[in-house]
Amino acid sequence: MEDRPAPAYIAHMKTISLRTGDSVPALGQGTWRMGEDRRKHSQEVAALQLGLDLGMTLIDTAEMYGDGGAEQVVADAIRGRRDEVFLVSKVLPENASRDGTVAACERSLKRLATDRIDLYLLHWPGSHPLAETLQGFQALAQQGKIRHWGVSNFGVDDMEELTRLPGGDAVVTNQVLYNLTRRGIEWDLLPWCRRNNTSIMAYSPIEQGRLLSHDRLDGVAKRHGATRAQTALAWVLNSGTIAIPRARTEAHVRENRAALDIRLTAQDLSDLDRSFPPPRRKEPLGVL
Ligand SMILES: NC(=O)c1ccc[n+]([C@@H]2O[C@H](COP(=O)([O-])OP(=O)(O)OC[C@H]3O[C@@H](n4cnc5c(N)ncnc54)[C@H](OP(=O)(O)O)[C@@H]3O)[C@@H](O)[C@H]2O)c1
Repeated sequence: MEDRPAPAYIAHMKTISLRTGDSVPALGQGTWRMGEDRRKHSQEVAALQLGLDLGMTLIDTAEMYGDGGAEQVVADAIRGRRDEVFLVSKVLPENASRDGTVAACERSLKRLATDRIDLYLLHWPGSHPLAETLQGFQALAQQGKIRHWGVSNFGVDDMEELTRLPGGDAVVTNQVLYNLTRRGIEWDLLPWCRRNNTSIMAYSPIEQGRLLSHDRLDGVAKRHGATRAQTALAWVLNSGTIAIPRARTEAHVRENRAALDIRLTAQDLSDLDRSFPPPRRKEPLGVL
């Protein structure tokens, strides 16, 4: 792997430190629904490349997205610049036996045209025993095919079950639904993850675009000369989680990158709490 100094634009990127010591951008890029339509391929590749140029070098994908098609889009986006990227992919629960996890990862590596995934996640809890999935992750890590592993859509009970297993406390990330309209994790999961040094990766940070119809964002947005999408993203970024919005147009990519420069004030945060209240009791984990 090349060892070169971070480019200047990365220096301006807010980063989050993982328990592994890796520093990753707080704002990454999602890829769900990419790779489904060949006619959109070059636009999707260009959007991801622009995001990389702007410092959003964490890319989240999964074997599930576009039945492997999203990983192929990512392969084209990162070709020739693999070392700049922190690559996240996911194994489907139905594949997550010990050997199935290894085989799924090898298929992903082939589609991604790389020799390693930086962070490999179990997409959601399934029927294969977690201990087996963990053995698969450990075998892959030993072979250098993945650098780290984590989970997605795990509630507190799932995290406790996982971390009771030998080696389970090495879990780096739990990727979960988190945005202004989905604040349930603040009750229990977010504090649990903070206590246990597990980073939260917030998926669907603008609620798949549905937050754009909320005029309750406008007061805060206006104060910052920002759009609703930027305000929603700025709020997620303020929470110390890693946000991975998906954007397929140049305008959306640029707009999202600019959300990093918004500093929400205490007044902004309390206005947003009034409009999008935090949980008052334990809620089931939200999923999409
Ligand atoms: N682990 C899991 O189970 C799970 C589940 C869901 C998602 N994810 C991951 O999280 C990523 C993000 O979540 P998501 O894709 O569900 O939803 P999202 O990022 O909240 O929203 C994506 C939608 O918002 C639009 N958008 C993006 N930036 C915008 C902007 N600045 N202004 C207006 N519209 C904007 C996008 O349009 P365009 O694309 O047309 O630009 C797209 O329609 C996924 O892509 C995936 O990588 C993981």
